[in-house]
Amino acid sequence: MKKLMYECFLLVYLILMPLEKLCSTKDIPENDAKRFNIKNFDIAVFNVNGEFYAINRKCTHMKGNLAKGLVEDTTVRCPLHGAKFNLKTGELVTHPGTIAGWFKKAKNTTVYKTKVKNNDLYVDLPQPIEE
Ligand code: FES
Repeated sequence: MKKLMYECFLLVYLILMPLEKLCSTKDIPENDAKRFNIKNFDIAVFNVNGEFYAINRKCTHMKGNLAKGLVEDTTVRCPLHGAKFNLKTGELVTHPGTIAGWFKKAKNTTVYKTKVKNNDLYVDLPQPIEE
């Protein structure tokens, strides 16, 4: 019974999931990326062969601009010191490759769910923390 209630709750959440519209899917060409600043979230959105991935735009090492990074399969390499992140999971795949990586470590980054509806791209952002 608990499992059924949980699944119903999850289904309702997914249907009512608060999505933020970013742009038309045509605004991010295939194998390109674009930066968005929405509700104080600074995110980079990548179009990898027609699949959209959204992550925190600032590298967890020293805030390099991941929207300008090199995309290889479903990873992005930071343009500053080369840390590499998995676009699906946010996992840090490769640590920064320069001496800068010895002094400050990078860590996993945040990913945001994306959804395409009627050729528009949406992102699921967490609710802001009330103060
Ligand atoms: S800022 Fe990204 S690897 Fe250093």
